[in-house]
Amino acid sequence: MSLKATLVDGESKRSSLGAKPVENPIRLGAVGLGYRNLANVLPKALTYEEYELAAVCDKRPEVVEHAVSDLDAKHGVRVCGYTDCDQMISEQQLDAVAVLVDVDKQVPVACRAMEQGCHVMMEVPVAYSIEHCWELVTTVERTGKVFLLMEQLRYSGYIQAWRKIVQSGVIGKPLFVEGEYFDDKPDAFFQDGSGRFYTPQQAQDNPEARPTWRHVAPTIGYLPHELSPLLHVLEDRVVKVVGMSVRDRSYRYENVKRADIQVALMHTEKDSILRMAVAHTVPGISRGELGTHWHHIKGTEGVLEWNRSSKGQCLMWVDGWQLDEPLEVPWKVARADASEQVKTSGHGGVDYYPLACFADAVLRDMPLEFDVYKAVETAAPAIMAAASIEQGSMPLELPDFRPGPHRKPGRMPG
Ligand SMILES: NC(=O)c1ccc[n+]([C@@H]2O[C@H](COP(=O)([O-])OP(=O)(O)OC[C@H]3O[C@@H](n4cnc5c(N)ncnc54)[C@H](O)[C@@H]3O)[C@@H](O)[C@H]2O)c1
Repeated sequence: MSLKATLVDGESKRSSLGAKPVENPIRLGAVGLGYRNLANVLPKALTYEEYELAAVCDKRPEVVEHAVSDLDAKHGVRVCGYTDCDQMISEQQLDAVAVLVDVDKQVPVACRAMEQGCHVMMEVPVAYSIEHCWELVTTVERTGKVFLLMEQLRYSGYIQAWRKIVQSGVIGKPLFVEGEYFDDKPDAFFQDGSGRFYTPQQAQDNPEARPTWRHVAPTIGYLPHELSPLLHVLEDRVVKVVGMSVRDRSYRYENVKRADIQVALMHTEKDSILRMAVAHTVPGISRGELGTHWHHIKGTEGVLEWNRSSKGQCLMWVDGWQLDEPLEVPWKVARADASEQVKTSGHGGVDYYPLACFADAVLRDMPLEFDVYKAVETAAPAIMAAASIEQGSMPLELPDFRPGPHRKPGRMPG
């Protein structure tokens, strides 16, 4: 069944950003055929009428062969498979690519694709170096291509509600904002050349099982899932950060060379304090629909809080509302205005929005609310928190990625 991916159905304006206008559907190539592309982008590209899946690519030949034959067998869709993204782009006349590769390699792949004329969707958490953030910003500015970071929680129902509440001033000035992402991902840390994953226990007896990119990544590096929605609520950006960590080898999995938990304490431009933490090697209490995430905002006049466990409820409390106890509010991840199609799109009904926003930008010239500056502003605080940890928890200032008197668009700083 063909479905639409758009938030502005009926608009027909063509994009003037690319080297050539993009005709509907967008000819899409998928790069990096791991779990997320296979489970999210590929099925959606086959379903939404704005997309045509033209080619797939992974550096592992076995993974490519498997994806190509699977698409044919299960969907009757024939696509070309590649192990080299540059070759795929030059041979396939693609309009866009979805880049979902190892996080420390995403930005170079995405930037080369933009230089070759493609619009790009890319997954969280952007990058693990400030240099890559700059490379991304300046390439988007120079090429004029559409770039969308596919962080999806910022589109959720409760985040839309919290944004309105904060903007209305009901809870006063936001003072203290918290976010947590506590998950146990035992299958994510070791992989062999064919793409098969191993648990830390299995990896101990298997020399073919090599550490994945999740070992390269600092634990705190996965902050964009918290910063993207919460900075959207606050309409703010982080200017200073301090990071703190337990030892850099897991207590739970001896052969995982990664801290079990890292915390970032951040100060924003509008004078709020954020405390955010990430743990990907220890199980966390389930937080209802959000599962492994948790969010909280304390203002001068009130509080907004996602449920602390699956037994609880989302809470709202406002001083002066004569409340002995906080209000229990049935906020959801899915938006109340979403269709059934959207509500079943994945991650509680929010996986639809990145693909819809991207299609609207590429086909209909709609501006992206979540632009490249906001995207790197979700990643740079995590990168600087990791740098702070390396420097004994020294406070570090964040660069300002927006162009201005200090930097022309398309130019690197300094
Ligand atoms: N938004 C979400 O909810 C969500 C959920 C899961 C993962 N993600 C993100 O999606 C991305 C992919 O995650 P994953 O779990 O699928 O990872 P994965 O490690 O399973 O897959 C990455 C794939 O990229 C391939 N690859 C690496 N470098 C390449 C290159 N230069 N060219 C072609 N292929 C290359 C690897 O061989 C691998 O198959 C990551 O950024 C991750 O953080 C986001």
